[in-house]
Amino acid sequence: TAAEIDALRTSHITEYPDFPTPGVLFRDITPLLRDAAALRAVIRWWTTLLPEGIEYVVGTEARGFVLGAPLAYELGAGFIPVRKAGKLPGRPAGLKYDLEYGSAEIQIPENSLPAGARTLVVDDLLATGGTAAATIELTRRFDVELLGASFLIELEGLGGRDQLPGVPLSAVWTL
Ligand code: PRP
Ligand code: ADE
Repeated sequence: TAAEIDALRTSHITEYPDFPTPGVLFRDITPLLRDAAALRAVIRWWTTLLPEGIEYVVGTEARGFVLGAPLAYELGAGFIPVRKAGKLPGRPAGLKYDLEYGSAEIQIPENSLPAGARTLVVDDLLATGGTAAATIELTRRFDVELLGASFLIELEGLGGRDQLPGVPLSAVWTL
């Protein structure tokens, strides 16, 4: 139920002040990942929040893999890994971006998505939106039908939503 899922947020997400840099309140999802029943409950609940007809889930390294792959499996969709730069063979498309506590570069595999594919972008957490905006920009280079972006946790007040205008957003937990 909604109340049970909400209770898991406080019991299974741990907050660490000043990690990895001063002023950041880090939300650690590892207590959720290690609890088999809680992990399954959250993944299944999450699928009920998503639009119909998803053919591909795009997830961003690393935590977007851990959550995006089981979501794709539950949905019967394919999974596209967007990786930190330097990990993908061939000619991946890449983009530099800023996130809450630094900057990075990500890449999407070549030939990832067929034009028009109904695609959902997934990550564990939306903070400033830099990572999600970059992932969406790379995804859109394939002329997909972007159905939206979905997160386990949306941190309100860091402006993430404003970086993703026109993209339908959902989250299991909003903090
Ligand atoms: C974290 C998180 C999101 C991103 C959100 O990833 O998993 O991808 O930050 O922040 P933003 O909205 O400010 O961009 P991180 O780069 O720490 O990588 P990880 O998944 O490898 O831990
Ligand atoms: N990624 C960006 N900001 C974060 C935060 N506050 N906690 C966990 N992951 C994050």
